[in-house]
Amino acid sequence: MKKALALTLAAAMALSLAACGGGTSSSAAATESTSTETSEAASTATEGGTVANKDKPLVWFNRQPSNSTTGALDMEALSFNDHTYYVGFDANQGAELQGTMVLDYIKAHADTIDKNGDGIIGYVLAIGDIGHNDSIARTRGVRAALGTAVEGDNGIVSDPVGTNADGSATVVKDGTIEVDGKTFTVRELASQEMKNSAGATWDAGTASNAISAWASSLGDTIDIVVSNNDGMGMAMFNSWSQEAGVPTFGYDANADAVAAIADGYGGTISQHADVQAYLTLRLLRNALDGVDIDTGIGTADAAGNVLSDDVYYYDEASRSYYALNVAVTADNYTEFTDSTKTYEPVSAQLDAATSPEKTVWLDIYNAADNFLSATYQPLLEKYDDLMNLKVDYIGGDGQTEANITNRLGNPSAYDAFAINMVKTDNAASYTSLLSQ
Ligand code: BGC
Repeated sequence: MKKALALTLAAAMALSLAACGGGTSSSAAATESTSTETSEAASTATEGGTVANKDKPLVWFNRQPSNSTTGALDMEALSFNDHTYYVGFDANQGAELQGTMVLDYIKAHADTIDKNGDGIIGYVLAIGDIGHNDSIARTRGVRAALGTAVEGDNGIVSDPVGTNADGSATVVKDGTIEVDGKTFTVRELASQEMKNSAGATWDAGTASNAISAWASSLGDTIDIVVSNNDGMGMAMFNSWSQEAGVPTFGYDANADAVAAIADGYGGTISQHADVQAYLTLRLLRNALDGVDIDTGIGTADAAGNVLSDDVYYYDEASRSYYALNVAVTADNYTEFTDSTKTYEPVSAQLDAATSPEKTVWLDIYNAADNFLSATYQPLLEKYDDLMNLKVDYIGGDGQTEANITNRLGNPSAYDAFAINMVKTDNAASYTSLLSQ
């Protein structure tokens, strides 16, 4: 195709040269040829896959390429080519918000929170994936805010405690909270990774079983339920805590969780999926159009799309765009009921003349993941129309990378890629396919 284009250009040049003798519009034609050529050179994808797969735009999202044991970023994957980025959210800022949200709730409900009046505020914690840095950050954030954190070699220990009814565990400690002159002990009574027998993490079904087991062994010592996400949080709320009247806190601001705040769900955190989904596709779009990467992000595009810096930031060193989080509680949840609404400041249609249709291969690591399937993907589907991108959505099983990579049999058929890995260590399973 590139050859054909080059030939066409050569022919056009020849024609304009020939026309030169005749005098009139030749220089305009020549200028046009040159500018076509220039913009072709600047943009990454010309029609029909003339760009090598290894040079095509690539965005990692939701699962940042990193070592699942140490959390160290996989910079090789993050800088795979000049058009590679990660899109996620600020995990530490969000984790701190989640911890503070729970702490504020305790303080505001100090007179009723300790159900059995033993002076101990007991909480149980659903952990999503012990090797996922968002999950680790949230576990740490909650422990830090509630005073139950223990420092280890890599910062706050984020390991699950199993059960800790008597407070003797070593991965957490008992904390204390003072409210209105009264001191409570705070104890992480139980926590575990919610991984099912097939290997899928963040598993809502597992969380539902866990809360039933915890409720029968720990009974009325459970005063609060906390979860690394809303999928698991809502599973526990529906199967136990709503009826038991125990406040439950999650993360993601999925629509069902936000709606449940009216029925006693304690609160959740919006990770601004509306901004993340936009960035995921916008970075690809900008690279494909050969325009400045900040277009429609920090700098308004021709349609007026622009993000302000109170909703995201870019970290050059990690080539990562991070959305900022917002707490969603009884005070403000009515503003968050539609979790699949595009973010208003970046909802203008792009012009197909300057941003022509391109094809994108995009996978979701687990088609059953509540956040990704109920919030993120519906947003992507709205933005792909606005950005003239034809996206093939591939839903994984959440267990093996191969289940997804098997469906990336012909990368040459696509102009760009957006990847959500099963395991953060596995970036090479994808980049090796693009490098072939
Ligand atoms: C979300 C979880 C989701 C996970 C998947 C997290 O950012 O909060 O709900 O299961 O991503 O990777």
